[in-house]
Amino acid sequence: MWARPSPDETIPIIRIDGPSDHLLMTVCNGAKQHVEQPLGITMAGDLSWMEERYAHLEEQSLLWQPPTLESANTPRCTMDGKPTIMLSANNYLNLTTHPKVVEASIAATRKYGAGSGSVRAIAGTMDIHLEAEDKVAEFKGVESSLIYSAGYTANVGLIPSLVQGKQDIIISDELNHGSIIDGVRLTKAQRAVFPHNDMGAFEQVLRENQDAERKLVIVDGVFSMDGDICPLGELTALAEEYNAMVMVDDCHGEGVLGDGGRGIVDHFKLQGRVDFEVGSFSKALGVQGGILAGKEIVRKHALNHSRSWLLSGSQPPGVAAAQKAAVEVLMDEPEHHARLWENTEYFRTEMQSLGFDTGVSTTPIIPVMCGESSVAKGLSNAMLKQGVMAGAIVFPMVARDKARVRTQMSAGLSREDLDEVLRIFESAGKEVGLI
Ligand SMILES: Cc1ncc(COP(=O)(O)O)c(C=O)c1O
Repeated sequence: MWARPSPDETIPIIRIDGPSDHLLMTVCNGAKQHVEQPLGITMAGDLSWMEERYAHLEEQSLLWQPPTLESANTPRCTMDGKPTIMLSANNYLNLTTHPKVVEASIAATRKYGAGSGSVRAIAGTMDIHLEAEDKVAEFKGVESSLIYSAGYTANVGLIPSLVQGKQDIIISDELNHGSIIDGVRLTKAQRAVFPHNDMGAFEQVLRENQDAERKLVIVDGVFSMDGDICPLGELTALAEEYNAMVMVDDCHGEGVLGDGGRGIVDHFKLQGRVDFEVGSFSKALGVQGGILAGKEIVRKHALNHSRSWLLSGSQPPGVAAAQKAAVEVLMDEPEHHARLWENTEYFRTEMQSLGFDTGVSTTPIIPVMCGESSVAKGLSNAMLKQGVMAGAIVFPMVARDKARVRTQMSAGLSREDLDEVLRIFESAGKEVGLI
């Protein structure tokens, strides 16, 4: 039954009948809301504040107006009714349409149905989920892995389970992804942020906080706005010296960095030294879902304590089968990974020789630095008019004077595609006065 509400009391908002098992008790604790009016009386809310906020965003040209794809998200796609070359997708290996991935998804949907019918913890774990997890662990050379519904939910579910309170500290790179920031916000631990990739400053934070009970260091492996890499070897060595746990978000490194795309831990040969590797199926692997890889105890812990895993329906079987197939493709067909890097080197070199500034990138995320946001938007629009989707990244995603057009390479881009893109970049770059 629902706890009896009254006009002015704080009540639990979660249903509290049923078996008071560990999970339900965890959910109920702390989940409270203040009731403003007697239940039973319904009153439409005043949403004028929403109209005001929306108008404010519109005034500042900050509204998201996402274009619509009418085809698969492949390097040659159809967007808003026009043939378009896609340079803004995370589909690094072009696996979204790989026949083995697509067929696996269809076959599993036929066998198991469209949905899993439950959360993983209760009745939603299918053999196909476990097979996908085993495949990830095999590929990454770790003891174990756990799949979440997304990279976002892996971060917001895992991070709060790793610290307890004020006696602990989380130490983050200033450019960490928003999903890490959200995960950190869900904890009561102390927080410290060090300047981007600055290992001197990082060590100073470690030194100043060496008495904290648990120390958790969190970094992105590949930084998604600049395409540069965390110096994970140096960072891990320092963390070991100060007895800190290390978590790396390798969402843009999985399928991209390391031997055959095994990720940043493989790239720096740090196997067994990084405690928590988080990744995503929604980028190079071309599907959807979050990955946690590490020791068996990490899987067991996360499975019992990540609220985003415990409290949300498990992935449809078609998705789980596609995840497993995507990892198999990566293991069996190394040519996609090799092709991604060929395209990356070619495009970066040619862009630089046209006179573009590609920033500090060393990965398939290649920004075209523009400075002012108006220049970035102008360049992106000029590209789109000529059939190339390359999105502008402006404040507040990056500093006001560091606006850029961000391009992302894909193994599916042919040399002809890239040459066409280069020609269009040259003409659009001249049009906006960037080169
Ligand atoms: C660095 C990083 N971490 C986490 C995520 C979230 O991944 P997912 O799309 O699987 O939720 C993203 C995606 O934008 C990302 O770029």
